[in-house]
Amino acid sequence: MALAHSRVFGAAQLEQVPTPGSYRAYIETYGCQMNFADSELVAGLLHAEGYGFTQDPQEADLILINTCAIREHAEEKIWQRLKYFQSCKQRRPHLIVGVLGCMAERLKAKLLQEAPVVDLIAGPDSYRHLPQLIRQVESGARAIHVLLSREETYADIAPMRLAPHPTSAYISIMRGCNNMCSFCIVPFTRGRERSRRWQSIVSEAQQLAEAGYKEITLLGQNVDSYQDQGVRFAELLARVAEAAPTAWIRFATSHPKDMLDEVLETIARYPNLSPYIHLPVQAGSNSVLQRMNRGYTAEWYLDRVAAIRRYLPQAVLSTDIIVGFCGETDADFEATVALMEAARFDFTYHFMYSERPGTLAARRYKDDVPQEVKHARLEAVITKAQALSLTSNQAQIGTYQQVLIEKPARRDPKDLAGRTFSGRNVILRGAAASYKPGDTVEAYIHEATSATLIGYVTATLSESP
Ligand code: 5AD
Ligand code: SF4
Repeated sequence: MALAHSRVFGAAQLEQVPTPGSYRAYIETYGCQMNFADSELVAGLLHAEGYGFTQDPQEADLILINTCAIREHAEEKIWQRLKYFQSCKQRRPHLIVGVLGCMAERLKAKLLQEAPVVDLIAGPDSYRHLPQLIRQVESGARAIHVLLSREETYADIAPMRLAPHPTSAYISIMRGCNNMCSFCIVPFTRGRERSRRWQSIVSEAQQLAEAGYKEITLLGQNVDSYQDQGVRFAELLARVAEAAPTAWIRFATSHPKDMLDEVLETIARYPNLSPYIHLPVQAGSNSVLQRMNRGYTAEWYLDRVAAIRRYLPQAVLSTDIIVGFCGETDADFEATVALMEAARFDFTYHFMYSERPGTLAARRYKDDVPQEVKHARLEAVITKAQALSLTSNQAQIGTYQQVLIEKPARRDPKDLAGRTFSGRNVILRGAAASYKPGDTVEAYIHEATSATLIGYVTATLSESP
């Protein structure tokens, strides 16, 4: 999975929840989009139990922190937050603090032992048990549930839509991962891969579109291995596109070893399937890819890129790169930079290798690339990535793009920020006077940086409901 970032749920949506007199929960989420989608499920579950919500941890009766374990740094952040929640608890002794997600699954009882503030631990397949775990804490015991499941998809639970924009929604289509990339903790924290029934995905997409949602993102650790009753990912995409014709459909994450031409063909066929493809490559050297257990070579990856460019000339292609994996030589690293150039990535997420206890790599290989070499390689990847993004964005100057407006721009409150159909960031100059998040507009692009396109609105396509 990709797109690691952290965010607290938005105020606007939370305020809609009736709270008077009720217990109030505060949910903080770290990690990938799947975690954000999971927090929406948890919020839906708590809402059904009569909970209200607050944006302020100081006011909460229940604090849940949904965690990520993908790199050591992600976990360090959580330990810090737990210290802060300890101070909240000193002021409000009845406060319950729970840790959810991948770090809860990875560390299990160790978290209870090492963080006295924690009352409750629930792994990614344990959220159905939350009400009962909370009751257990209320009756004076600490509570833990970290069993992974082969079946759980939460298909019947209505998520409370909180993220990330008012007309944007996630649908998880599958959970877990069977791939066992050697660096990755996800198969251990999220368990075996299982696909949700296609009928429930399609009907959720249809309901979202009918309710006015304009962007639906289908989530899975490896969407290309989706499989339910003979329906593969390409067919699922087609059915969702037909069921939600007024929404832009996005998806993440694709896997280079499994991505079939039929998926690309399907995207080309439907005008509401976004040609944004996140295709993590991780490394450009075949020996590193082999040690990573990725199941493809650099040549195979570039063949997939060629297919993407062939079927989808407007595609935006992004990737994940890890630098400093075990045994990575200068020549291996040069191969990564050469692959970046050959693939002409529109956007790159980059990470320094961080050994995760229990993974295949931690057991088999030495984390032997010195920290300063990892840093230098990361810098080189960033420089290359920025140059490629700049070229890619500059090629959009002079074009008209459909843009879904997401939020006020950070730098200037007169501007709005949004995303093009193909997934590029856009700043719309002076748009705040006439438009709002959730509106879809046509924009003329007159400038570009490596991070964003800059343009102005030329027409309204549809307004936020
Ligand atoms: N160290 C560094 N990066 C990692 N990722 C996954 N595991 C690790 C790790 N141990 C990166 C991969 C993945 C992204 C979500 O995080 O690039 O695609
Ligand atoms: Fe981790 Fe690989 Fe599965 Fe992605 S495909 S979640 S990197 S094991």
